[in-house]
Amino acid sequence: MIQRKGIILAGGSGTRLWPITMGVSKQLLPIYDKPMIYYPLSALMLADIREIAIITTSEDQEQFRRLMGDGGQWGLHFTWIVQDRPEGLAQAYLLAEDFLAGAPSVMVLGDNLFFGHGLPELLARATARPSGGTVFGYRVADPQRYGVVDFSAEGTVRGIIEKPVQPPSNYAVTGLYCLDGSAPERAAGIRPSARGELEITHLLESYLAEGLLSVETMGRGYAWLDTGTHESLLDAGNFVRTLQARQGLQMGCPDEIAYLKGWIDRAALRARADLFGKTGYGAYLASLLS
Ligand code: DAU
Repeated sequence: MIQRKGIILAGGSGTRLWPITMGVSKQLLPIYDKPMIYYPLSALMLADIREIAIITTSEDQEQFRRLMGDGGQWGLHFTWIVQDRPEGLAQAYLLAEDFLAGAPSVMVLGDNLFFGHGLPELLARATARPSGGTVFGYRVADPQRYGVVDFSAEGTVRGIIEKPVQPPSNYAVTGLYCLDGSAPERAAGIRPSARGELEITHLLESYLAEGLLSVETMGRGYAWLDTGTHESLLDAGNFVRTLQARQGLQMGCPDEIAYLKGWIDRAALRARADLFGKTGYGAYLASLLS
């Protein structure tokens, strides 16, 4: 079986969060005590993915590399890819075509956070499917901000519509896409939409048209947070703070996941704990060793 690979899409211009994102990439902003990209990275790691392409703009790449290096500190391997202009989510598959080399993938948007007790199992079910694609539907109060699932009366998926003015359901498609090795070829067949983007919804519809798309519901036991507005950015930070303070456990901690999965040993975790010194993050890593 070909090993599934990961993509983190962390480009874009972040104009909706200006002026904050005029000087720094959105996916490097803090979500409480960690950079935003740690959270989607953790989701890929929980899906057992170690070979990951990170797509950024050319001007932001250096900062991301300073933060994350080559991934070796977490037993991962990163490939860095540039997207010059934000020409759509589906373009990621064209840019990552050589990296994927025919492998199935999980792509996560660099500004999406996932949390839930059953998350590893949910991801494992999706990544175990050898062909087709799986996306996750999550109930939201404001579906018009997202790609939305159109269900028939029988509950089958009829379509996925990007930012509909009149949403056909309350189920948004989250920014986590498990697709088989045909994704780059399918993306090559998509034409830009009226807003000039290669839409992820069009790519998903190409799977749907052949009966190859599964839409799994992420139920109410999960948190899916996006950071598209100032309010949701703050909400995400508060969510992480509340959860971590209550449990004394970290959310979105790549060092912990790497250690628990056996991808790094005690000595490597110790080195990371020492690196972060007396910060809460460093103390947390040290506590995992005792
Ligand atoms: O968060 C889930 C939603 O993400 C889905 O429900 C939608 O179907 C999907 O289109 C997307 O909607 P957004 O409105 O969040 O898309 P946005 O253009 O903001 O892009 C999402 C992230 O991806 C953002 O952090 C910037 C990055 N991006 C975006 C584009 C278009 C890139 O890195 N490159 C791009 O070309």
